[in-house]
Amino acid sequence: MNSAVEKLELAEPHLAEWLSSLGLGVEYVRAQGNTLFHRDDQGTEIPVIDLVGGYGSTILGHNNPEIVTYAKSLLDNATPIHAQFSRHSYANDVAWKINAIIHREFGTTEPYSAVFANSVAEANEVAIKHAELDRVLKLTALAEDIEANLGKAQAAVRDGARIVTDDASAALATDGNAPGKTEIDRLAAAIRNINSERMAAPPVFLAPEGSFHGKLIGSVQFTHNAGFRTPFTALAARCRFVPLDRPEALAHIIDDERKTLLDLAVEKGTVRVVERSLPVFCAFVLEPIQGEAGIKVLDREAVRRIQEACAAIDCPIVVDEVQSGMGRSGAFFASSHLGLQGDYHTLAKSLGGGIAKAAMTLIRGSPYRTDFELVHSSTYAKDGFSTLIAGRTVDLLEAEDGRAYRLAEERGDQLLAILGKLQEEFGDVIKEVRGKGLMLGLEFHDQSDSTSEIIREQARAGLLGYLLSGYLLRAHAIRIFPTASATNTLRFEPFIYLADAEIAHVDAGLRSLIAVLRDQDGETLLHA
Ligand code: F0G
Repeated sequence: MNSAVEKLELAEPHLAEWLSSLGLGVEYVRAQGNTLFHRDDQGTEIPVIDLVGGYGSTILGHNNPEIVTYAKSLLDNATPIHAQFSRHSYANDVAWKINAIIHREFGTTEPYSAVFANSVAEANEVAIKHAELDRVLKLTALAEDIEANLGKAQAAVRDGARIVTDDASAALATDGNAPGKTEIDRLAAAIRNINSERMAAPPVFLAPEGSFHGKLIGSVQFTHNAGFRTPFTALAARCRFVPLDRPEALAHIIDDERKTLLDLAVEKGTVRVVERSLPVFCAFVLEPIQGEAGIKVLDREAVRRIQEACAAIDCPIVVDEVQSGMGRSGAFFASSHLGLQGDYHTLAKSLGGGIAKAAMTLIRGSPYRTDFELVHSSTYAKDGFSTLIAGRTVDLLEAEDGRAYRLAEERGDQLLAILGKLQEEFGDVIKEVRGKGLMLGLEFHDQSDSTSEIIREQARAGLLGYLLSGYLLRAHAIRIFPTASATNTLRFEPFIYLADAEIAHVDAGLRSLIAVLRDQDGETLLHA
């Protein structure tokens, strides 16, 4: 194109320029299975093996033929796509299909209600919004209970009951010193004041260090990466991040945040101040396999500690399965490998079959609040197209007795074996290999002290993985990215029909990358 008429880049121009500087600003023109195609200067299509998999959205491949045919049939049949506030049996069908899977994988019979969303992060926001509604309703019920108790205590004292005070409650009864009021009235008034202040405090969320749950105003607060989160802390919820490698840390955080309300108890002719625990913890949010933290499978022991602690403080668990779910781990829910049945499970990404934007939040029956349906809604969520595609995608995953899960596990094991061998052979370059099924990570040693200025600079800027990705794309037609918050780790999320030849191609590409890194050849990494 003539530069005089070249279009000014308006769509996130900075990002486009940065991608181009590393050779990643390639325009893809076609996608099929595990392959993306771009064109060279002569217009010839160049195939690229795609290990990014739409950030985990293409468990069934790009443009899966069965899903594409189905999508066409939906459009050809003039399927109602936007018929809000009408009966949506297709949404109910998806919820039923996924309930059957929950029941099978977690050995429960409890139904989960489904709320649909439009984006990946939104599915998590729906979960935390529901959890907050539940907390607020619990808090309101507790406040009403306390109010009734204060009334009973005031009546009991008028009928001759004795107020039993310790130093703290005696101080409360003189507080304010309102003339003409009796001791019990002053005590009740002081308790109401203290309680209303404590009840107004915002909730506390908990999440493991390294968590990534999205970048919307709410979900970004559960995303540990400070760069993404801290500019926006004033806008939303407060989350405490738990270091899972320090078993005692969770208990300390809980003790630190625990709050109580005051109440009056009438017993055997006496009235005394008692404390009631305030539901301050809104939700524990976690990924069973942490993605952006560098592909880290939670360990069972840590999960058990979280479950115990949450049960003790009545804090619901939100399991974010948007990336690890939909079969990638070798089961529909990665959390099922960990015995982690959540109060909430969120699904998205591959739920849209690689072509639609589908997301949903599953909410366990017992905490489910039907009031939520009156206070939460969305124009696009549950639209006919994406929800029907979601249903078909689940059918394809479940077909042939879960062949897709078996493939994810088997192909994942093959790829893992190759990566493990690289680590064994080149421990000086590769630090660790991690993951499960088709959600794998390959961590490179830090290169901040590289003898190559190019490598050193990129590593110090936290961009090593992008430099390596640029090289693999240009020199070996492999599309791969690092995990966003652990950029020394390349992540592998291909679709389930990963061929042996594709694994061999990836092996060869990685071997040549390792050789270049061993030579500290920054020029080749940036320009080859
Ligand atoms: N939760 C998890 C576990 C994710 O991996 C992501 C996104 C989100 C939530 C938020 O999704 O921002 O796309 O709506 N992960 C992308 C990735 C960014 O690189 O895998 P959003």
